Amino acid sequence: MRRATITGWGRCVPPAVLTNSDLATVMDTSDDWISTRTGIKERRISHTETSDMAAVAGRHALAAAGLEPEQIDLLIVATCTPDRLIPSAASYVQTKLGATAAACLDVNAACSGFVYGLAIANGMIATGGFNRILLIGAERLSMLLDAEERSTAVLFGDGAGAVVIEPAQGDDGVLAVTLGTDGALADKLTVAGFGTERTVGGDEELFKLVMDGQEIFRHAVTRMGESATKVADEAGLELEELDLLIPHQANTRIIDATARRLKMPYEKVFLNIASYGNTSAASIPIALSEAIELGRVRPGANLVMVAFGGGLTWGAVALRFADRVTPLAMSTAALPPTDKTGLELFAEVQEERRRRRGAPPAKSGRG
Ligand code: UT7
Repeated sequence: MRRATITGWGRCVPPAVLTNSDLATVMDTSDDWISTRTGIKERRISHTETSDMAAVAGRHALAAAGLEPEQIDLLIVATCTPDRLIPSAASYVQTKLGATAAACLDVNAACSGFVYGLAIANGMIATGGFNRILLIGAERLSMLLDAEERSTAVLFGDGAGAVVIEPAQGDDGVLAVTLGTDGALADKLTVAGFGTERTVGGDEELFKLVMDGQEIFRHAVTRMGESATKVADEAGLELEELDLLIPHQANTRIIDATARRLKMPYEKVFLNIASYGNTSAASIPIALSEAIELGRVRPGANLVMVAFGGGLTWGAVALRFADRVTPLAMSTAALPPTDKTGLELFAEVQEERRRRRGAPPAKSGRG
């Protein structure tokens, strides 16, 4: 059976930064609370659609793999914030990239989306039908945030990360995969008003992310620990053979607990949550591309990527990285520039929420 391996990687983080201190000017929160409880210092806010970020990340990954867009035969976008309900974000990305030979689909497993997408890509390579897959995790979660839900609004940010997946030539590639879902807990993290039930309710409020933070936290600690341990066991990797853990960047306290469960020393855990917050399906591919650039992924490194998210979903992939950890080429792709600050972009969404609720516009200071 053919094994899938990563041959290209890239990311796109929007330029506008929203710091904890910025948020504290419009919400009842503080840099101290957010930093201590989550490890987040700032996040990026996008001025463009999810598919724009996805296409830029995709161009970087294609360049790193030395491929042209037309050579891709399957394009998967892991996202829970597509531009529209129909078509898939992947269809837009196909056109933006010119990946005209690719079949396109989205995967929605919330924050576990990239791990689910990697598992699907692995299966598609293993069965022999597909040879060059572009998998992108991309999210514009800032559109779902409500300043009145302070425990949720401070957690999330926007961005995209991408990988190219091809059949392995050596002993590198995906070693083991584990996935799971507990649909009985589906309402613990949800965005209502964006699907078919929308026609029943008649609620005009802009759709927003609502979650039971403590319940999610408890399940995240259990499921991330369990699935990372399981996938390492199934891959036959001893603790000392694991080179790097790339966890979903949701909360440093959840990551600490996962690393403890795996008995991973902290220097073998990749963290960038301070800069981007939780970017859901984009979190692991952004982290992976940064880890490679920073020299944290050596040739042939054994990695475990593990995620948890709405659904409730969870999953992990153990992967031996290829010998090449340098890009074959570089792309200059970037988002169009913006003059707006992160706070201005965040405020625009909040203004739209107020308008739909029929509330008066915010004057200044705390909204
Ligand atoms: O990818 C999966 C996505 N979801 C997650 O990762 C969420 C997982 N859950 C969490 O990360 C944590 O549960 C949170 C960060 C959301 C909350 O942390 P916590 O330690 O569970 O705090 P808490 O909900 O127990 O709240 C403690 C206090 C409360 O005040 P009182 O009742 O003790 O007076 C909250 O009202 O902190 C208050 N609080 C805040 N204070 C300042 C909640 N949010 C904030 C805030 N700023 N943003």
